[in-house]
Amino acid sequence: MAENVNDLMEKLVSLCKRRGFIFQSSEIYGGIGGFWDYGPLGVELKRNVKNAWWKDTVLKRDDIVGLDCSIIMNPKVWEASGHVVNFNDPLVDCRKCKARYRADKVFSVSARDGDNVLFAGGVEADDESGAQAAVLAGANSKTRRRLEQHGEALAWEMHRLDQLPGDVAAMCPNCGGELTEPRKFNMMFKTFVGAMEDSSAQAYLRPETAQGIFANYRNVLDTSRIKVPFGIAQIGKSFRNEINPRNYTFRSREFEQMEIEFFCAPAEADDWYKYWRDARYNWYVTHGLQSDKLCLRDHDPAELAHYAAGCADVEYAFPFGVAELEGIANRTDFDLKAHQTASGKDLTYFDDETKERYVPYVIEPSGGVDRATLAFLCEAYCEDEAPDEKGNMQQRVVMKFHPRLAPVKVAVFPLVKKEGMPEIATKIHQDARKAGLASFYDEKGAVGRRYRRQDEAGTPFCVTVDGQTLEDQTVTVRDRDSLAQERIAADKVVQYVKERIG
Ligand code: GAP
Repeated sequence: MAENVNDLMEKLVSLCKRRGFIFQSSEIYGGIGGFWDYGPLGVELKRNVKNAWWKDTVLKRDDIVGLDCSIIMNPKVWEASGHVVNFNDPLVDCRKCKARYRADKVFSVSARDGDNVLFAGGVEADDESGAQAAVLAGANSKTRRRLEQHGEALAWEMHRLDQLPGDVAAMCPNCGGELTEPRKFNMMFKTFVGAMEDSSAQAYLRPETAQGIFANYRNVLDTSRIKVPFGIAQIGKSFRNEINPRNYTFRSREFEQMEIEFFCAPAEADDWYKYWRDARYNWYVTHGLQSDKLCLRDHDPAELAHYAAGCADVEYAFPFGVAELEGIANRTDFDLKAHQTASGKDLTYFDDETKERYVPYVIEPSGGVDRATLAFLCEAYCEDEAPDEKGNMQQRVVMKFHPRLAPVKVAVFPLVKKEGMPEIATKIHQDARKAGLASFYDEKGAVGRRYRRQDEAGTPFCVTVDGQTLEDQTVTVRDRDSLAQERIAADKVVQYVKERIG
């Protein structure tokens, strides 16, 4: 069983709580499944992810404009988009304990000791080791002992719910009870607008930001001096009533998306699709995800939605498995045509140069802010050794964030709280802030402990004011990753850090 994987996730989750990156939502009341809060360091990290995306996709380009539209929209939007009818998960219920699972995630696992089937149960798992773990958790104590003793030697077989061999029944992972037939469950959260709580007042929390872009396509075209090909970008909250929120923030019920709908001429759609597919993959590499943990997976034609002419996922090797960070799709003219038909509004585009009128094709790079943030957290987590004040090597945990994403860019310490050192350090800290750098001032405890705290926060540079500063106005700057220390002029700290974080 993959203990090291669980270990790594456990360590990361514990660091995120201990250092204020991520907390369970409403934790003081026992939490609520699928909802997460970002603490003081986490909110800066996540904001840096969003700012980097916004700057690179909107502010640095002439062909993309931004949008921020409402979360609750006219319910007709979701009828036209197909979400009311098609945004479903197949569900099964346990007849005995009433637990509910996504049917496509239920596996049956049998552990065989020769001809003897030790345990067969339906389990929700992404891979074999997860399935085995769930079988162990669900087995009675006698069976569990046998499985633990002989687990490695046993033959494990996994089957999807719809492909069960005759001698293995789909059973509840929780209690072993019988499961119902799969049925459809719509994942949109419902609410009511106004005083009435009946079907005429029913509305939905958006399950994606994309439809707000399609609904505003005409407005943007008419009000900005933009021409096809162009894109509309939006970052915002989306909500999905996921049946099995899991893997920390990876699958949540409330999350943020960063989406672009890029409108182009049908004949150019293939080229733009390839362009965005590569550009989005490279964006993650540029921000520190190592290419051997990233992959750009083209969907098989059989996987494509009926309207899509191409789709690729940027996937990342999380500690719990390889999973999607972002999808890039060529959605053809499906969405604009659907809204044109349902709203009766003209959503065609007239090309002045070719004198052609057409409904543009759409290339959609659609990423998750929380998933990207989780990938950056996983990638950053490192354990190595650093010397303490006496020069003895000590284990340290360090978050090696890309400098652009690091929540704090520079920390400033006076070596001791006297001899004017705090005053000099405070001035450097304030200058850094004035220059727009996220800076942290710390004068408490041994300097080695202050370094450790900043290593766990992922701060790229620590600046120390010491006795020598009083003589020659220089300070030491310590590099988080190489641990190299150099002396530079105190009044050059801001310039030094700015040059290095880019
Ligand atoms: N407009 C297309 C769309 O929404 P999607 O594949 O359903 O496509 C896009 O979602 C991205 O949103 C995913 O690649 C993922 O990063 C993020 N996402 C989707 N569901 C999520 C969830 N339950 N929790 C966190 N992120 C999610």
